[in-house]
Formats: sequence, C-alpha cells, structure tokens
Amino acid sequence: MNILGIETSCDETSASVVNDKREILSNLVLSQLKEHEAFGGVVPEIAARAHMEHLDTLIKGALNDADLTFDDLDGVAATCGPGLIGGVMVGMMAGKAIAAAKDIPFIAVNHLEGHALTPRLTDNIEFPYLLLLISGGHTQILVAEDVGKYKRWGTTLDDAAGECFDKSAKLMGLPYPGGPNLEKMAAKCTDPEKATKSFPLPLPMKGRKGYDFSFSGLKTAVRTHVEKLPVGDLQPDDIADLSYAFQATMAEVLSNRCENAIHDFLKQYTAKTPTLVVSGGVSANSSIREALTALAARHDMSLYAPPLELCSDNAAMIAWAGLERLQKGLQDGFDFKAHPRWPLDPDAAPRQGAGVKA
Ligand code: KG4
Ligand code: ZN
Repeated sequence: MNILGIETSCDETSASVVNDKREILSNLVLSQLKEHEAFGGVVPEIAARAHMEHLDTLIKGALNDADLTFDDLDGVAATCGPGLIGGVMVGMMAGKAIAAAKDIPFIAVNHLEGHALTPRLTDNIEFPYLLLLISGGHTQILVAEDVGKYKRWGTTLDDAAGECFDKSAKLMGLPYPGGPNLEKMAAKCTDPEKATKSFPLPLPMKGRKGYDFSFSGLKTAVRTHVEKLPVGDLQPDDIADLSYAFQATMAEVLSNRCENAIHDFLKQYTAKTPTLVVSGGVSANSSIREALTALAARHDMSLYAPPLELCSDNAAMIAWAGLERLQKGLQDGFDFKAHPRWPLDPDAAPRQGAGVKA
C-alpha cells in the first residue's frame, strides 16, 4: 500500500510517499525560511501563497523520488488542521483533487496525530505509550492508546514550548527560526554554572500536581534579563549564557511535568515496553532529549525521540498517519472541512484561561 502525504499547516511545504512496510519512499520538505525571515515569524498569508506556488512541484518530485506515478497510489492523506488555515486549505484541496481524479481514498489527517504516530512509522512502537508533544503551537502530555484514540492529560495554559523558544530567541536578538538558533547559541556557553547563576530563571509549574505547563513567565524572565544587559550591546557571551540557562530550564520543567505523568501512566497502563515518546519540532533539541532519556531511565522506561528529520513538520508523518487510519477503515469525504483547531482528545476538559491551545 502506497500513500501520498501532504503537509502545509505552517511554514513547511512537504510531500512524501510511505508504504505499509514502513518505508519512506520519498519525503521532500521545502522550508519557507527566507519568506518569513524578515518578519521574524511566520506570516500566514505569505505561507499560504508559498504553499500554493510549490506544492504541485513537490508532489511530482515525491512521486519521482519514490519511482511511482499517481496510478500506484492507494490513498492520499493531507493535513486538514490544526494550523494556519490558508495553508491547510491549499494542501487539503490538492489532496482531495488527486483522490477525486484517481478515485482513491482521501484521508484527512490531524497534524498532531502525524507527530503522535511517528514512532510507529520508524520503530513500530506499540500502544499504549506516554507522549510529550512539543511543537510551535502545542505542548501536551497525552496517552496514545490507539490510532485516533488519545487521552490528553496535560496542556499549556499559555504559550507552547516552541513558541517560548522562538519568542525568547527573538528577545535575545537571535535570527528566525528561534528554537534551533537558540540551541546553537547555548552550545557556545563555556561555563554552565556561571550561566545559570548569572541568569536565574523561574521553573513554571515545577513541583505542582498534575501535568499542565506554563511558559509565559519564563519568556518574561528572559525579557527582564535582556533589558538589564547594556542597551544595544548584547554581548555574544551573555546571549550564549542566557540561551544555556533558558534551555536547561526548559528541559527541567518538561521533565518535571512528565515525571508526574510517568508515575500515573505506569500505575494505569500495562505496556510490554513502557515508553515515553517525545515528538514535535522542539523534540529536536538535544538537551531536552538528554533530560528525557535520563528521566525515562530512572523509571525503567525507554525514551523514543524521532530522527531529527522527522521531528519538525514533514509529510512522511502525515502519509503514515493516513496509512494507519486507512488500515483501520477510516477515510474521509470531500466535504471534510479544514479545522484551524482540532484537539486530539475532543473529550479533554478545557483549562480555564488556556485559550485555543488547550
Ligand atoms: O512541529 P513543528 O515543526 O511545527 C509545529 O507544528 O508547530 O515545531 C516547530 C517548533 C518551532 O517553535 C521551533 O523553534 C521549534 O519547533 N524547534 C526547536 C528546535 N528545532 C525546532 N526548539 C528548540 N530546539 C530545537 N533544536
Ligand atoms: Zn508540527
């Protein structure tokens, strides 16, 4: 079974073909870094137009790389939300058009389910697993029970982890995209002890019951530190130290919230190999991966983190989620609407004041 995946929910245009032997036959990702760089963040209208401009070439390229034609496809999966709605509609309509022309199933994929199922594509990780989903738009702790079946245990009450990385990087004058650039800067810190002493940061929610997150206070603390540094004279050493302190704080907070969830996961679920999965763009961060590896090991769990090229947005994860859904007999009509907001666990109680990210 060959499935074409299409991803256009943020600033990556991507097309991929994946088969039921868990082979990624192609995975082309075109990042719109240049288009958004001047604005210091993703501009939805520009993103949508760029997807429109490039998607057809990428789909053709993905088929070529896989050495297949449209006739070899058994289905088309496209991200139909959550995300920037203009871009989502571009990918969704391209997917529907191909499915209609070839009379093959169309599968509407939740972008978050793409991140959630990546460990099954690469390593055939069995359900249930505990999932820390950390991306630019979401920060959640979930239990993945089955395809299409997730229990959301925790979520952020304000900013997402990736958003906090990006905003903090911007405050420090680092170029877009903030997360990876902040990690590079942190690697230049030569004295971690001095860094954390010079730039003390709060550990939001640490030690509290439950699994929720909050990052806006951390971002404000970064702002306060930056404002105390000599105006117009942000020294690279200071930025490296502040980046280090920020990243260490992030890793600690994420680990702390996951630790609560691990205790309860191990009590409530029986898994052959209890696994903590981290996925989403921020899971590319090596300090966070290290902290979570140590945390999982302390609880006799394994940590799964995707290979770096599958951490950030890509269509292979969308093709795979579509394939898993199709194998379960799930497919969608051409009347499926793009969802700007689309929770993985529709039954999860909203958090007071948490807005749309919950
Ligand atoms: O999953 P993703 O590619 O897009 C969304 O679905 O949001 O995640 C993008 C987020 C951005 O906030 C980006 O700065 C962050 O992931 N990110 C990182 C790293 N690489 C990407 N954050 C920290 N360290 C990284 N190495
Ligand atoms: Zn994503």
